[in-house]
Amino acid sequence: MFITFEGGDGAGKTTQAVRLVDRLNATNHRAHFTREPGGTPLAWGIRALLLNPEESLEALWRFGLVSTHEPVEETLPLTELLLLTAARTQHVERIRAWLDAGLIVVCDRFADATRAYQGAARGLSQEVVGFLEEQATGGIKPDLTFLFDLPVEQGQKRKQRSLRRSFVQMNLFETRPWNRLDRESIGFHERVRQGYLEVAKAEPERWVILDATQPIDKLASEVWEVVSSRLPLPPDSLAPSDS
Ligand code: TMP
Repeated sequence: MFITFEGGDGAGKTTQAVRLVDRLNATNHRAHFTREPGGTPLAWGIRALLLNPEESLEALWRFGLVSTHEPVEETLPLTELLLLTAARTQHVERIRAWLDAGLIVVCDRFADATRAYQGAARGLSQEVVGFLEEQATGGIKPDLTFLFDLPVEQGQKRKQRSLRRSFVQMNLFETRPWNRLDRESIGFHERVRQGYLEVAKAEPERWVILDATQPIDKLASEVWEVVSSRLPLPPDSLAPSDS
């Protein structure tokens, strides 16, 4: 089973994805958490270049791996799409292996994020986005996708608040608090939100839209209700009981 979590920035999907994996593993299902862009060393490297280009290039310069120390130019929309596609191509190899090994894979963002961010918000053509998605995923599709829907301003405020509290805790795998995409305009994030809602509308059997303004525990139980109703029985539940 391949489950993905999607939504705008600050919607709380990472917290929920991690909680789901913990709960699955605690109930004898074997689940694995992963996220995009990321999931393999090369893909993490691409993530750093995409989200924090200035710091990444500065680090490469300090290690003598690039010879120029000029200010970094703007990342063009097509470059962004191609880098994300490259990272996804690397990651999908691993996702396939985890699924083949019988794991439930829970992925924080996947190809639908590209449709919302690079397609709807950046305005890249659906044909190009769709073609590259097909190349990178080789047709792998989530069985179930949760959309954490939240008004943009609330998402932005939440993200700022949680970063102030503890950005190490919030950003599980990176230490830079406010990245290049977080700095985009409210209009950009509005287009992301609408883009997600449209993608979800087109495939209602795969998507579950959740009201992400709800408290964390309430959301977690809504996620669990949907997932547990679709799970195969864990192997030990088939063993005869002692009583
Ligand atoms: P995260 O904060 O949820 O880990 O995501 C990192 C950023 O990358 C977030 O702002 C959304 C963006 N992103 C895209 O623009 N396109 C994509 O395909 C993915 C996976 C992420």
